[in-house]
Amino acid sequence: MAPATSPYGDRPAVLLAPMEDVSDPPFRKVCRTLGASLCFTEFVNVDSLLKGDVRSQRKLRLAPDDHPTAIQIYGADPRTLREAAILAEQAGAAFIDINCGCWVPRIAGRGAGAAWLREPDRMVEMAALIVQSVRLPVTVKTRIGWGLEEQMPIVDLARRLEDVGVSGITVHCRTAKMRHDGAADWSWAARTQAAVRIPVICNGDIRTAEDCRRALAQTGCAGVMIGRGVISYPWVFREARALLQRGEVVAPPTVDERLAFLITLLKENVAWRGPDGVFCTRRHYAGMLGPIPGGEALKAKLYATKSWERALELLEEARARPDVLPPERAVA
Ligand SMILES: Cc1cc2nc3c(=O)[nH]c(=O)nc-3n(C[C@H](O)[C@H](O)[C@H](O)COP(=O)(O)O)c2cc1C
Repeated sequence: MAPATSPYGDRPAVLLAPMEDVSDPPFRKVCRTLGASLCFTEFVNVDSLLKGDVRSQRKLRLAPDDHPTAIQIYGADPRTLREAAILAEQAGAAFIDINCGCWVPRIAGRGAGAAWLREPDRMVEMAALIVQSVRLPVTVKTRIGWGLEEQMPIVDLARRLEDVGVSGITVHCRTAKMRHDGAADWSWAARTQAAVRIPVICNGDIRTAEDCRRALAQTGCAGVMIGRGVISYPWVFREARALLQRGEVVAPPTVDERLAFLITLLKENVAWRGPDGVFCTRRHYAGMLGPIPGGEALKAKLYATKSWERALELLEEARARPDVLPPERAVA
């Protein structure tokens, strides 16, 4: 079917996935510099938000250069989701994304996230209410089904969501029961995109530029969304853009570039979170330093320190001393 206007931006869209404790403002900023065409906030618990929880309110704060960013909300009650969507609209979101895919028991067990997949009628009614309550486009991020269905509900669900005015759907091509296990089956994204005019984003197991190309070719989707892969390799955005827009294969980041990236990210994390920014930078060390010569030893030293100043010193030292790390070597 002919594609409609996309809230996800130009096709093919290459999006940074919403990831709790990962896709925060510092990480969105650095991913954008590498070519992420649109970012999502971490999911925001609507009940906490409406109770005035500081952490949830902070997630709604978008800096002027943090654009386009969609604010993702989750909850079990359509009325609180509606109120939160209105707040997200006022906060300057590019659009509102409703999480209907989270499998985590404390969320799905309470009727939010993927639990909506067990009650498709209520899910469609809830989405209709949100669409009617805000001027911004409303999108849904979900999975192919809850699990064990013979025929996954996603295709019919997507048609019904389109009918009530939802502007786009991200399909994480697993069931909720699969959590993150087993292979994502992109054929469901293909079937979904074939059934609707609104853009469908294919998500699940997309890690490299070549994965982006294959997923787009196999599904005909309007874009792809990358989650876990970017935690260790955000350069996938740059490589995907080059491949998809110009058919070019660009060189992987040099050792120096990897270290420079971590230095920038550490500084951004500290600016956003204070000295504790050193801890959330740690999750990127294994993937980013692991493959480089001397990276394991550096990683061990970085894990051992609680001081962001010391972490910065270690990274800068490594960058400045070619005898510690070979300079300017491309890493596969
Ligand atoms: C650490 C982590 C946090 C996540 N947090 C969210 C979230 O806040 N909202 C959401 O819709 N999905 C969340 N997800 C799911 C991802 O957005 C994505 O759908 C999933 O990881 C599959 O994509 P991938 O194979 O590229 O990782 C999270 C995943 C991970 C690994």
